[in-house]
Order: sequence, then C-alpha cells, then structure tokens
Amino acid sequence: MSTYILAIETSCDDTSAAVLRDNKVLSNVINNQIVHAQYGGVVPELASRAHQQNIIPVVDAALRQANIKKEQLSAMAFTRGPGLLGSLLVGVSFAKSFAYALNIPLIEVDHLQAHILSHFIDRNLPFPQFPFLCLCVSGGHTQIVKVNDYFDMQLIGNTIDDAAGEAFDKAAKILNLPYPGGPVVDKLAQEGNADAFSFSQANIAGYDYSFSGLKTSFLYFLRDRLKENPHFIEENKNDLCASIQKVIVNSLMNKLVKAAKDLNIREIAIAGGVSANSQLQQTMKDLAQKHDWNIYIPSLQLSTDNAAMIGIVGYLKYIHQQFSDISATPYTRQKL
Ligand code: KG4
Ligand code: ZN
Repeated sequence: MSTYILAIETSCDDTSAAVLRDNKVLSNVINNQIVHAQYGGVVPELASRAHQQNIIPVVDAALRQANIKKEQLSAMAFTRGPGLLGSLLVGVSFAKSFAYALNIPLIEVDHLQAHILSHFIDRNLPFPQFPFLCLCVSGGHTQIVKVNDYFDMQLIGNTIDDAAGEAFDKAAKILNLPYPGGPVVDKLAQEGNADAFSFSQANIAGYDYSFSGLKTSFLYFLRDRLKENPHFIEENKNDLCASIQKVIVNSLMNKLVKAAKDLNIREIAIAGGVSANSQLQQTMKDLAQKHDWNIYIPSLQLSTDNAAMIGIVGYLKYIHQQFSDISATPYTRQKL
C-alpha cells in the first residue's frame, strides 16, 4: 500500500507544501514571498505574516495538483527548525491542527537534514551510498556533513561567520543588485572574466569556513576603485560577479576536496540554495572527473527551500515509525 505524506516548509521566507507518494513527489508548490525584495533581505515579522496568508492556499494547491484528498493522507510532516521563530510557529501550528483534525501522525523534520536527504527523492537517478559527504550551502548555513545513515549525520566543517549564500547576497548588495543576490551574481558572472580581479580566500584551519573577510575586502576594493572612477561597478559588473563567485566556489571546494581525501569518501553531494550555482555545479563535475567521485546535485527546485525535501524525510521517518508529539515546539538554532 502506498504512503501519502503532506509536507509543509515555513522556516524562512518561502511558504511551501508538497505531497509525496512514498519517495516520489506528486506536487511541490512554493510561494516565494516577494515582499522582502524591497528591503534587501528577509524581514522576520513580514515573513510570518505572509506565511499566515499563504499557508492554506498553498496546501490546497499542493493537494489539488497531486490529485489527493485529505482523507488519503498517511501523515503530516513539518519543519520544526532551525529557522525564524515566527515563520516556524505558523507551520508548526498549522501541522498540528491538520494532523489532529485528520487523526494522522505528525512528523517533525529538521530543515538541514531535509536539504541533505532530498537526494533520496526518486528522480530516476542513483541515490548516494552511505557514508557520503554533503556540502550543505544556503543563506544561513555552510557546512560539510558526513552522512553515515539517514538519521546518523556528523558535522565535519562549519562556517565561523557568514554563510556562503550570505557572501553572495552581501556581494550583490555592494554591487547594487537585487535580493536575493546569489542567482543574479550567477547569471551576470556567465558573461564575465573570473580572473579579472583577485580576492584572497580565508585561511582557516581544518574544514571550517569564513566569508566575512571576503565581504570586507570586496567592499574596500570597490571603495578605492570608485574614487578613481565612479562608473567602475557599472563598467565591470560581469567581471566583478565572476571574480567574487570564483573565490567563493573555490573556497567551498578546497575544503570539500580535503575532507573527501582525508576521510577517503568518493560519494559527494551538494545541497541548499547555493548548490544551484552554475559555477559550483561545473566545478563539482570537474572534480568528479579528477578524483573519481560519484556526485549528487539537486534539481533547481530541490536546491532552494521547498516542502518536497521535508516530505522525503517525512516518508523515511514514517517507515521508521518516528512520530512527534502534539506538544512539539519550534527550535531556531541548529541541532545537528
Ligand atoms: O536554501 P535556501 O533557499 O534558503 C536557506 O535555507 O537559506 O538558500 C538561499 C540562498 C540565498 O543566499 C541565495 O542567494 C542563494 O541561496 N542562491 C544562490 C543561487 N541560487 C540561490 N547562490 C548562488 N548561486 C545561485 N544560483
Ligand atoms: Zn534552506
């Protein structure tokens, strides 16, 4: 008999709902909250209000697209954390009421585990073999995780300050590009010369990352150039994007290569919003050739925040009978 999971994701600024039949996605509806763009970043209070407005229509659309009735659902999965408290509260409260009304099990999901386990969604592609390494790169996180099993993960490396997505977004802001900056930098970089300008990578021990110094050196570099030529950014936009992207991607990859070598693992995955970056994906492919890696890259929709990734964890927990209590409350900080 098939298992039908309704999943919702409301940890930040995307309201999303998905329906999965076992490990297959039947629908994955994502409402990107456009309200934040004018502020150049996510405004938590506006995010929770927008989730309140969106959650019922988004769930309704996910059920309709999947052609599934509420009564067919086996369980309700939701993001418990980490994320913005007000945003999480909307999802947690909705999930509890929904599960209670339908008398179905409630399943809590960790947002980062979900990014990583999204590789187990059936896309007619091979699944990673345990143990594998996952570079999890988003607006809030930058880490290398050793995945021993579905629910056995070890944090190998982490950022000590900004996340890679933040580095992209802050560089974009300095260049007067719209928020979120990552996809815009990626696009402009395609027409640019990545060797036009050089910025140095942080020198941090082990597998940890640091991106705050890069932002500062980018800012000072531009401040000096703009003194000489007020049109410097406009005239060099593509090259600036390509050059900053190169240093971010190379920093990410250097530590990943080191971890893979040291731990002798050749199953390598990437996940999170920044894994949509075209240069990051190309570098992964080149490294796979060089080091004989098997690589796992999410589709665009599965890389940024979405409820299908919550749904796959919901399914895996459902078959392992890992259910949550109706008294579950959100957590805002990472647990892994
Ligand atoms: O995983 P995600 O959707 O949300 C978080 O959990 O943070 O990641 C969002 C981040 C943003 O910083 C955004 O700029 C970045 O992912 N991002 C990209 C690209 N697409 C999204 N960064 C670089 N290149 C992209 N193509
Ligand atoms: Zn995320």
